[in-house]
Amino acid sequence: MARKLLIVANWKMHLNVSQASLLVHRLQERTRIHRDIEVVLAPSMLALQPMSTQIDRRKFRLAAQNAYHKDEGAFTGEVSFTMLRDIVHYVIVGHSERRIYFNESLDMIRDKVQAAIRNDITPILCVGETKHEREEGLTKQVLHDQVTSALSNLTTAEVANVVIAYEPVWAISTFGGELAKPREAEEAITFIRAQVESLYGSHTASMIRVLYGGSVDEHLVRGYLEIDGCDGALVGGASINPYKFAGIIESAYRMQHEPGHEEK
Ligand code: PGA
Repeated sequence: MARKLLIVANWKMHLNVSQASLLVHRLQERTRIHRDIEVVLAPSMLALQPMSTQIDRRKFRLAAQNAYHKDEGAFTGEVSFTMLRDIVHYVIVGHSERRIYFNESLDMIRDKVQAAIRNDITPILCVGETKHEREEGLTKQVLHDQVTSALSNLTTAEVANVVIAYEPVWAISTFGGELAKPREAEEAITFIRAQVESLYGSHTASMIRVLYGGSVDEHLVRGYLEIDGCDGALVGGASINPYKFAGIIESAYRMQHEPGHEEK
């Protein structure tokens, strides 16, 4: 079965509710209905509910940027996956900003991935090495540890539903934004899929979607989408600009509809 291309907009802590609504309006005007591409918007927690009634569901789905792994209880300030389950299809888990600024550990991320699946929400698990780790030759070790521990409480069938985003920390715009060469992204994506294959088998490895993220914009996206095994992009900075983000979706669409384009 072909894996559907997935383009995710991570708005991070930008845009209040009315600004988010305006951006949705602008994106909706500039985006066609694409049956072969899934476009997901991840606004702030506050904007999710109003956006769920505003979006054209033929064009967009919603994701949360984070959630807490317990379903309910005395956890002041947190929002659970259970509370989100009727609003979002996806939740971003383990983004490097959460690992670095909020000290999210491998165990916490494993619990969040499990809580997402338990609540029928697809986790978009972010993994990636820092600049220092890459320079020390630790990239594969880091990816191995992040992938294996995050998936460790899932069944094989559940793993097939997870989305993994390879986001080298050094390539994220706010952490330096050094551009990853498509060859570097390809190596990591191939390695991630090989890890999944060795743990859960080739069928699961062929089902799981792996995205690339890190300074993706409307000009660069194509180079990453053409990578063998890359099923889409996680976009930060460029996703809060309607021209850029609509350009990214359009570029993905054009690539898919070129003569000779093979389904992955
Ligand atoms: P960026 O962010 O596209 O601004 O580099 C990507 C991300 O942090 O998910």
